[in-house]
Amino acid sequence: MLKRKDLLGLIDVTAEEIQEILDVATDMKRHLREGDKQLPYLQGKTATILFYENSTRTRTSFELAAKYLGATVINIAAGTSSVAKGETLVDTGKTLDAQLNDFLIMRHPMGGAPYLLAKVAKAGVLNAGDGMNEHPTQALLDMLTMRETFGSLEGLKVAIVGDIKHSRVAKSNLFGLKKMGAEVRMFAPQTLIPKGIDQMGAKLCSSKEEALDGADVVMGLRIQLERQQAGNFPSLNEYAQFYGIEGKALAYANPNAIIMHPGPVNRGVELTGKVIDHEKSRIEEQVFSGIAVRMAVLKLLNDYREYNK
Ligand code: CP
Repeated sequence: MLKRKDLLGLIDVTAEEIQEILDVATDMKRHLREGDKQLPYLQGKTATILFYENSTRTRTSFELAAKYLGATVINIAAGTSSVAKGETLVDTGKTLDAQLNDFLIMRHPMGGAPYLLAKVAKAGVLNAGDGMNEHPTQALLDMLTMRETFGSLEGLKVAIVGDIKHSRVAKSNLFGLKKMGAEVRMFAPQTLIPKGIDQMGAKLCSSKEEALDGADVVMGLRIQLERQQAGNFPSLNEYAQFYGIEGKALAYANPNAIIMHPGPVNRGVELTGKVIDHEKSRIEEQVFSGIAVRMAVLKLLNDYREYNK
């Protein structure tokens, strides 16, 4: 059982907890593959999805996960809520608590926002991405996809290439994968590498070839134009030429390597169209893993709430 009210980041989640989430998610995925979408562990519970930023994959998969578990699900888009009238996050949290919500699933542009919500809310808070900080369920679904392919995360060589500075996915993957015994390599333009990421355990590489050499997993990251000022690289064309993953670069990786990307992808920038659609690409499998992982996390957090009633 996860012994926590909230899932805010992988920085403070243990290897044992990750293992447990992935084991339950594997079971959930088996049920889904068999067409079994009614697993009523959250029957009678309410989950509110509160997104202050755009999303396709994360929002829909949290909604599907909660509904497959039997919960009542409410969706709030920031633009249509009282946030647009000036209500604070703390007051929003208290309001949603007063409505007896069991879970608040939040995406927010400010790093740390879910931590603030979790402090004031009685409901369990799930971080669905907070600014440039963390995106824990994305890293968990990535790890599930890798573990399914290779059987274990221990000793895997994972090359992450792209806009690491603005990426909450890169940070959550670094925290999670290191705890599970994987090697995490990173390659990006100097301007897109956050200070201190090597001290957090990343192996910084000075070329695409070095990053991909013998890699088991090749993960591209989206260039987050919405979070950066101009000047981090000369042009998207040049970025694609020097940092994009194309067929030639893949030849350096392990012959059994898989290709991953959290999405959304800028087709032809981080990955060429051919690499996205390559037989080794697991991008669609990652999306499927996302539902199972979110079901697992909701179930385990709910088990803890029930145990502590
Ligand atoms: N990977 C991810 O977070 O995608 P969305 O922005 O579509 O949710």
